[in-house]
Amino acid sequence: MINIKNLVCSVALISSSLFAGESKFITIGKDALSSTNKENLLGTIFKVDNDEVAVVEIDSDNVEKLSHHMHEEFHRCGGYIVHDDLQEAMEYVRDEESKYWAQKGDFADYSIDQQATVNEMLNFVDEAPINSVIKHLSSYHNRYYNAAYGVESSNWIKDHWSKIVENRSDVTVELLEHKKWMQPSVILTFNGESDETVVIGGHADSISGYFGGAGNRAPGADDNASGIATITEIIRVLVETSYQPKKTIKFMAYAAEEVGLLGSREIARSYRENNEPVIGVMQLDMTNYKGSSDKDIVLISDNTNTEQNSFMGRLIDEYLKVSWQYDRCGYGCSDHASWTGAGFPASFPFEARKGDMNRSIHTTSDTIERSRNSASHATNFAKLGIAFLVELDQ
Ligand code: BES
Ligand code: ZN
Repeated sequence: MINIKNLVCSVALISSSLFAGESKFITIGKDALSSTNKENLLGTIFKVDNDEVAVVEIDSDNVEKLSHHMHEEFHRCGGYIVHDDLQEAMEYVRDEESKYWAQKGDFADYSIDQQATVNEMLNFVDEAPINSVIKHLSSYHNRYYNAAYGVESSNWIKDHWSKIVENRSDVTVELLEHKKWMQPSVILTFNGESDETVVIGGHADSISGYFGGAGNRAPGADDNASGIATITEIIRVLVETSYQPKKTIKFMAYAAEEVGLLGSREIARSYRENNEPVIGVMQLDMTNYKGSSDKDIVLISDNTNTEQNSFMGRLIDEYLKVSWQYDRCGYGCSDHASWTGAGFPASFPFEARKGDMNRSIHTTSDTIERSRNSASHATNFAKLGIAFLVELDQ
């Protein structure tokens, strides 16, 4: 971010930095296009057929002038985002277009009728293995997306998941390498008969300090060893109960969430590119800090699918019988937003109301001691994940 003198505005940069005389690409509200163009601030206009947003080339020297113009003319800060290259700007507009149906659309049969199977499976959910995975993952110095520890810890997730499924020939575990940073994502697949796919994911990386850093201590016990440990428990219970899914079920440990949802965005966009039939996505990010004493689960209502969220609420009532409510993040705060941006239905059951959230995240104090050394809160989310999978698998 750069601050513009006297304006108290900043320019939104997506993985971008400004050097003089360089060509940049912005996404900007269409309403601001004609007056801005009159000022000769803009270069080639690449895309305006969308209702809201245009993609326009701009000389980096003009970015500051544009910020000034937006402030004078529209009395607002920003109103545009600077992207590194044309492709990234075009993808951003596509994401904006995909979002509407991802939130409002109806993607699956949300009936609940698998009580015998689900209730039996829920008996197998255990606190101890969740606790032990949180402890192991938070023992790495950090799990930073561009550090050797980030690579090492994701390799461990792959090995640990592989061991759990070693006797299942229908299950595969793979590392997905990313070109722009060191840490891979991890994907485990139960290959059902149908290619309709249900995804449960969470981020594997951790961060500490405002600017992050490969050397910083970042235990990330709640954010997000807890989510990965919860996912691991769901996998363990599916195997222990010899569950054979009809659909394809994928578990994902995304790289590089903490630096802008990078891993999940790459994955979700590639699923959109390949027209993969993903009928439901559940995000598990922070499952083990019970911040709201009167609520066990908080369903994040923005950047998520309305129908699938109400299905989640009914699953909690039917199978967990614990208290829940809706709350908003207010922005694309985790990987569910990558799936929503790519056009897929996502939900994000969270550990507490935002106002009661764990204040230790992104610090050296994000350890399991903050949750009284127990993973009992996380067991709720493992149960919800199992109910979600089995009911969507019919
Ligand atoms: N786990 C957090 C998201 C979160 C925090 C959700 C508090 C709800 C309450 C996530 O890892 C994170 O830190 N996200 C970033 C945004 C992301 C786009 C880099 C954040 O919230 O600042
Ligand atoms: Zn975080």
